[in-house]
Amino acid sequence: MKATWKLADGREITLDVAEGTNLMEAATQRGVPGIIGECGGSMSCATCHVVVDPGWAERAGEPSPFEEDMLDITEAGRQPTSRLSCQLKMGPALDGIVVNVPQG
Ligand code: FES
Repeated sequence: MKATWKLADGREITLDVAEGTNLMEAATQRGVPGIIGECGGSMSCATCHVVVDPGWAERAGEPSPFEEDMLDITEAGRQPTSRLSCQLKMGPALDGIVVNVPQG
């Protein structure tokens, strides 16, 4: 399965992501710039913030209430389709997903 990260400088990185792997893990393992994942996926750092491409927002689903709170304190500022990528787990619904890495 595949996911694409669009960087603030215009570069795009497409990676194979195994089913069940979250997009923060996939990005940090392969060194996608701008995705840090400081807390290891426990929703306490927001350094895995991505803005889901609008065409994928519905399939990505809604953030949980706790994720909602964390999104309000992201460094780059929250956008309508912002998500914590540690909470986006690859599966058939997300195969091909495109996310934007905010600057900052
Ligand atoms: S890795 Fe820390 S909130 Fe996602």
